[in-house]
Amino acid sequence: MSSSHTVFVTAASGHIGQELVPLLLKTTTHKVILPTSSAAKLDAQIASLGLASDVASRAVIVEGDIKDPVWVQEQCQTHGVDTAFLCLTGSDELFTTCTILEAFKAARIKHLVYLSAWFEQSNTVAGMSGTLDMWGIVAHGLVKVAIELILPTLPFTHTVLGPTLFTTNDLRAKPALVVPNDAPGAAAFVPRAQPRLIEPLGNIGASRVFPYDIACAAVRCIDDAGERYNKRKIVIGTLKSYNKAEMERVWTAAFRAALGGSSDVSVTMAECDAATLDRLEELLRAAIGPGWAKELRVMYDAIAEYGWGPNETQYAEQVELLGREPMDYEAWVHETARSWLV
Ligand SMILES: NC(=O)c1ccc[n+]([C@@H]2O[C@H](COP(=O)([O-])OP(=O)(O)OC[C@H]3O[C@@H](n4cnc5c(N)ncnc54)[C@H](OP(=O)(O)O)[C@@H]3O)[C@@H](O)[C@H]2O)c1
Repeated sequence: MSSSHTVFVTAASGHIGQELVPLLLKTTTHKVILPTSSAAKLDAQIASLGLASDVASRAVIVEGDIKDPVWVQEQCQTHGVDTAFLCLTGSDELFTTCTILEAFKAARIKHLVYLSAWFEQSNTVAGMSGTLDMWGIVAHGLVKVAIELILPTLPFTHTVLGPTLFTTNDLRAKPALVVPNDAPGAAAFVPRAQPRLIEPLGNIGASRVFPYDIACAAVRCIDDAGERYNKRKIVIGTLKSYNKAEMERVWTAAFRAALGGSSDVSVTMAECDAATLDRLEELLRAAIGPGWAKELRVMYDAIAEYGWGPNETQYAEQVELLGREPMDYEAWVHETARSWLV
């Protein structure tokens, strides 16, 4: 059993955080300090876990501005934080990450687990130029390249987690895959006439990762306290990459299995070409704003050109850290289709 730490966990209400916080509370004795812009939202999230009061009391929710480094430093010092899990997002990710790292430095934390993304980080100029080629001008990727480069200069140990493409991204395609079913006593949804996946993953494709697996890896790296995994990057995701053809195969099989043997429904994914990317960007502009729409467009273009996934060595390191294989993406797709269509 590792010793107990006081862990500052950002984005506790997010995809990873919703998995990580319960794991830390249920499977460790660490205290967790949870910064948030909405304590009410996070309170409700913790309450819904139905934890015993002595376990729930190890979660301390602090409402404030994560972009204020003085506030972050004060929280770390007030609560005796020795470890941080740093997961940030947003158009100001570089600025916010740098100021929070300054706050961690001033508060003398001992260990950081940094949530990055899958890519090859290299110490050589040639290797680095390959990484930069892959990201092109995707800002939310480039920020992580820069932060990974400066982490070794900071006065605390660190482990980097490099997840591939989240499985939860598929859920954004739900309105393009199914429609609500009004028939009484029937399944909640029926397939659209032409169900389609909206992320254009191209012909090389991407490895997929569950936020739960990222959370399990984070717990291991927090417990490790920078001993075995100091200065290491662990990639998290399936060894297999899912390209357009594979994604269509998996989702079609899942829909047909849920609907019964005679179903001939086919799930499709658009080619990752300029016309598709134009349409996707247009759709995303309304949903997430023009800047992020452009960012995601360029990211899908990069995935189509380079693919996204661990090599055999990276995969083996992940299995060693997790103590098991990552979760099964295809089983999850089947379960998701069943939950909609049965
Ligand atoms: N989606 C993917 O396929 C993928 C793949 C690889 C890597 N990633 C990386 O994963 C990270 C996102 O993880 P996630 O999806 O678990 O998080 P998320 O769901 O996007 O987390 C959202 C919450 O994090 C807090 N937060 C994070 N950054 C903030 C900021 N700059 N300012 C204010 N609040 C901030 C806010 O919490 P409150 O509302 O409580 O204040 C916000 O509601 C990003 O760095 C992304 O690049 C994603």
